[in-house]
Amino acid sequence: MKDRTCEDILDLLEKKEDCTEEELALLLRCEEPQVVHRLFTLADAKRRKYVGDAVHIRGLVEFSNFCRRNCLYCGLRKGNRKLKRYRMSWEEMYALCERIARLGVKTIVLQSGEDPWYEAKPFAEFVHRVKKLQVAITLSVGEREPWEYALWRDAGADRYLLKQETFDRDLFARLHPDDDYDARLECQKVLKELGYQVGSGNMVGLPYQTPEALALDIKKFQEWDFDMIGIGPFIPHPDTPLGHFTMDPEKKCLLTLKVLALTRILTKTANLPATTALGTLVPGGRERGLRCGANVLMPNFTPHPYRSQYTIYPGKICVQEAWGGCLPCMKEMVTKLGRTIATDYGDRVRPTR
Ligand code: SAM
Ligand code: SF4
Ligand code: FES
Repeated sequence: MKDRTCEDILDLLEKKEDCTEEELALLLRCEEPQVVHRLFTLADAKRRKYVGDAVHIRGLVEFSNFCRRNCLYCGLRKGNRKLKRYRMSWEEMYALCERIARLGVKTIVLQSGEDPWYEAKPFAEFVHRVKKLQVAITLSVGEREPWEYALWRDAGADRYLLKQETFDRDLFARLHPDDDYDARLECQKVLKELGYQVGSGNMVGLPYQTPEALALDIKKFQEWDFDMIGIGPFIPHPDTPLGHFTMDPEKKCLLTLKVLALTRILTKTANLPATTALGTLVPGGRERGLRCGANVLMPNFTPHPYRSQYTIYPGKICVQEAWGGCLPCMKEMVTKLGRTIATDYGDRVRPTR
């Protein structure tokens, strides 16, 4: 059989909504404007077919920037001595969640570095309390013990975000001096068994990352049937070992959008955010993400002065905005795109096969 062209692969994606890892890599390498345009249009159509026009709002609270790990890419890494660290108290966090819920936000995402100061039991009590505000709770606090995940699930946590960052074993090992590929995946398995809606994801444009590695990520997202998949560009932070790894922003944006588009087509109903990192990389990045398969936005509700100290990467957008300001801004963004803001909790609905 003759080799498939990119147009052939797009035909296949349109009809079968699937293709091989090799075919994904071919599309990721292709820079032909017609092919890229067709891919994005197809992803937008599949997004409409599987998850509709509504955009889900997830209110983000970055409650601690302490981290015990040293991921090479991240500004919160323990080795970054320049960062001013903060921790929010339980009371501070609860008052904040109340304010967010009052704005009608249906999901609160509690995110932090890996910070053992927040012990499992008081964290469970906190989750239990916040649940009474009638919101869905997503946790994103890194790798913990199975019993801790279980305790939080019992307390009412609905979802958990733990990105694999890359499914390429060698690249994972290079980027994570103190983490283990299989241990991270094991966490995902445990979280799934506990009944969480589970989120994974990757960074695009990492050093030494090939189109083949990205193709593998997309196939793994599909195979693991993740409920949420965060796909964002890697943005170098000067105070990290990868600080000088530059790449043309528009090229990186296009590559990120391609990964997003292909992920939408292959995973059908997964919830995919248009990430803040994409909006930071290029102006209008999130809007482009929403047109290439994304259906989720994450307004930042971290209070000042903490917000500017959660510097995962430099130049983050929305940092100077007044508290609560991202919500109307996003509503306007969504309306301009001819889309609507979802009024339900936005749980992932599995496709009927
Ligand atoms: N500590 C938790 C964890 O690692 O899962 C949650 C917080 S961590 C800061 C959240 C996400 O930030 C990571 O999953 C990673 O994808 C992203 N991130 C870290 N450094 C980044 C960088 N330089 N550019 C873009 N995204 C980055
Ligand atoms: Fe810590 Fe998460 Fe940053 Fe890694 S990515 S250094 S675990 S905050
Ligand atoms: Fe944050 Fe516009 S979404 S300022």
